[in-house]
Amino acid sequence: MDPGETQDPLLVPMRTTASQAVPFISTIIIVVLIARYLLRRHFNQLRLPPGPKGWPIIGNLLDLGRNPHLSLTEMAKKYGNVFHIRFSTDLCYVLNDYDSIKKAFSNDAFSGRIRGTIVDLFTKNYGLIMSDGELWKEHRRFALSTLRDLGMGKSWLQERILEEVELMLRTLEDQKSQPYDPEHLVTNSVSNIICAAVFGKRFNHDDQDFATLLRLLKQSLKRFGQASPIVLFPSLRFFPYFYQEYRRMKVEDKIFFDNMEKMIVEARKPLDIVHEEFTTDYVNAFEKEKHKQKESGKLDSTFDMRQLKTSVGNMFVAGTETSSNTLLMGLLHMVENPDILAKVQGEIDSVGGKGEMVRMEHRVRLPYVDACLLELMRIAAVAPLGVFHRTMENTTLNGYDLPKNTLVISNLYAVHHDPQLWKNPKKFDPTRFIDNAGNFVKSPYVIPFSLGKRACLGENLAQMEMFLFFTNLLHKFDLVVPQGTTVSSENVHVAVTVSPNPYKLIFRPRF
Ligand code: HEM
Repeated sequence: MDPGETQDPLLVPMRTTASQAVPFISTIIIVVLIARYLLRRHFNQLRLPPGPKGWPIIGNLLDLGRNPHLSLTEMAKKYGNVFHIRFSTDLCYVLNDYDSIKKAFSNDAFSGRIRGTIVDLFTKNYGLIMSDGELWKEHRRFALSTLRDLGMGKSWLQERILEEVELMLRTLEDQKSQPYDPEHLVTNSVSNIICAAVFGKRFNHDDQDFATLLRLLKQSLKRFGQASPIVLFPSLRFFPYFYQEYRRMKVEDKIFFDNMEKMIVEARKPLDIVHEEFTTDYVNAFEKEKHKQKESGKLDSTFDMRQLKTSVGNMFVAGTETSSNTLLMGLLHMVENPDILAKVQGEIDSVGGKGEMVRMEHRVRLPYVDACLLELMRIAAVAPLGVFHRTMENTTLNGYDLPKNTLVISNLYAVHHDPQLWKNPKKFDPTRFIDNAGNFVKSPYVIPFSLGKRACLGENLAQMEMFLFFTNLLHKFDLVVPQGTTVSSENVHVAVTVSPNPYKLIFRPRF
């Protein structure tokens, strides 16, 4: 247990009796109602955009349903591109168009992260994703420069990814054209790239620590789904049903971060070696910076184990499901569109001979493949609502007032499916990004990594990963739907990310 941390009372058996619970619940309800009344008086003086009426206490939570991005897109048709909803007493703006998201997220005032949710009890706002203010600024800067030093866009990273791709191709070949669910393989391979960047090494797919890490990662994304009741209303953990859920989350969180700490300790090199070498991985770059700050006599350094393990954990959480789900959705779109797949394979064949690996250097000669990847990121919108932001001070947007601590949701899915931007948005059509001369034309309106100050810091890594996995896989294999089965890119489930439900394909070698 960290110094100063007290044991969480919820981890000792709960012995609340009904007679204790009634006054407790009544007090909560009275406090919420008074706060609601006072806030309403305050909000009446603000210029707010339109929005649906909410229920007492829970606000609009129930309006979000199982697919919050779809519900919010529907609401935008009624209330406009910028509208407001409420979670309990919290005011929340939903931005559904490119211009509003761009304007808001390039403003420092919008760079905070949601507070008062269950996440506070776990990460305590350390790390890269849920921190804000000075802690976030310092560590985002450090993370960006470390990832750059590690060779984003240069050969070191490409070689690590290609090693992983080769192993993946071999595993697929070993299936001997039998129906195969690629989820586990793709997730492990993608996650191993983050291992290489963070720990300087890859793990065997059957390594116990690695398997535990990936299992917990999946579960935590499911449990921490951004709009789930216990996440938004942590007080629910005092009620029996949610109490069990909370206990499970707490236990899994502990195992995840204990595991992370163990892997960090194993990856650490002696300081004299770290100082001599160029940056080899995130953990040792962090240790080097920690030592530098200590030597310079900095007393309030934030380079400690808690920050390191949360940042590293964040990179796994943010980088694994997003990239693997995009690739898994990509296979489905290819198998649903055999003409497009044939064109992609034809273009790849023109730059890479049989048995040769496709490399980043080939990319400029693959405009149709580039268009396909961009179309994939548009249509899949794997992180449909990005990560929620919070205003750090009173501010305005499009003539509306946002008091400090307003929650801001960017509906990236709505931008990617906006009929004013895209003809027939549900159709997978790479030619949207091909001009008359056959060149690839990037669109600013495809924003899977979000925009502005908090945009994804793994974008370059993700782009390289997706290009190398996608092209090499389709160069080597034809995709076939097993007889008597069907697959669909619309068969998905939604937590923080959109994931395809399990499916099997036949990976038939082309040569
Ligand atoms: C297809 C792959 C990926 C997609 C679609 C994606 C998307 C996103 C989105 C939408 C955000 C939220 C931005 C915002 O708050 O406005 C984000 C944040 C983040 N992503 Fe990614 N991501 C991907 C891959 C990665 C990878 C590989 C890494 C690993 C380094 C990564 C690390 C992060 C981190 C650390 C943040 C938090 C940034 C901050 O709060 O300042 N992501 N990502």
